[in-house]
Amino acid sequence: MNFENLKDVNLQDAAKILQDGGLVAFPTETVYGLGADALNPVAAAKIYAAKGRPSDNPLIVHIADIETVFSLTDFDMLSSDMQEKARILMDAFWPGPLTIIFPKKAHVPDGTTGGLSTVAVRMPSHPLALELIRQSGMCIAAPSANLSGRPSPTTAKHVQEDMDGRIDMILDGGAVGIGIESTIVDLTGDIPTILRPGYITRTMLQELIGEVEIDRALIEADANLRPKAPGMKYTHYAPKGELSIVECKGESTDLFEQSQKVCEYINALVKEKQEQGFKVAVLAPKEHVSQYQCDYILPIGELAKGETIAANLYAILRQCDELEIAYMYTESYDNTNLGGAIMNRLLKAAGHRVISV
Ligand code: TXA
Ligand code: MG
Repeated sequence: MNFENLKDVNLQDAAKILQDGGLVAFPTETVYGLGADALNPVAAAKIYAAKGRPSDNPLIVHIADIETVFSLTDFDMLSSDMQEKARILMDAFWPGPLTIIFPKKAHVPDGTTGGLSTVAVRMPSHPLALELIRQSGMCIAAPSANLSGRPSPTTAKHVQEDMDGRIDMILDGGAVGIGIESTIVDLTGDIPTILRPGYITRTMLQELIGEVEIDRALIEADANLRPKAPGMKYTHYAPKGELSIVECKGESTDLFEQSQKVCEYINALVKEKQEQGFKVAVLAPKEHVSQYQCDYILPIGELAKGETIAANLYAILRQCDELEIAYMYTESYDNTNLGGAIMNRLLKAAGHRVISV
């Protein structure tokens, strides 16, 4: 979107609401955010109330220039190696879909960081988000603008569905580009660690700063491991019906054979549930749409272009709710790079219900 299109958007009113401690939903390049003054604990508390969000789940602070990092965070507490890595990541990926965890300065309220001694910071690239931060002159705390537990909003209409009557204003910037939340990387430990996978992949980070770990709680099916990002422990993005992921764990290494097996299995599950009188949907990549037999086949994007799947995922989950679908089935996606971020969201939406065939 170019700035010409933003003339109609009343940024001045939005900035004023934020300055007065109110709540404004706004588009970012990832998902819509629900913004409030990050340094005002009363304003931040309103975010938790509007979303119905547990108070131990900290917020991301959105800024419009790199300099602000040095006023929000105890940058000098990082080792010189980590400071260097932080600078490299900020230069390479900001503005953009990367959130970085730093030690916080004392004036960043516990009400924003969920009582943690660290703070999550990101500079979004969406022009409306940047302009709102600039015009308000503030750091804006903003979680995704959904009710807690619902799929994140990728359009202003989704925000309205969840937040109508609960917030002061929604800035409509159309559908977002990326569709899944930012990658979160923690720089406060010995090795940079991904706490939430996203559009910026581990490979992209490693190319610039060397070794990067992934929070073990995200990849190991051990319920005793606590994710380092508090929000990652909650069931999330959950549609109202029951979503199951069908993956191929068979011996065949032939990808075509594998995907046929999965489609056949999903078709059998669909038939059974439809015969029992349930409304059933299949989330199908474009390449496989013709292989499914189901009353509701919802095209989710193209296998050949993973970013289209990321962009459509949350809207499709919301569509399933609108259609009052009782059972949803999806194939699994290649768990590398962007596919890893997609699978992370799908697994959460499915409550980790995976069927191996
Ligand atoms: O793309 C995004 O990041 C979007 C847009 C609006 O910017 N925001 C977003 O915020 O996804 P939210 O609140 O839905 O998710 C923030 C995640 C949560 O899992 C939270 O636990 C984690 O970030 N987080 C925030 N501060 C943290 C901290 N200091 N340490 C560890 N995790 C933190
Ligand atoms: Mg969220």
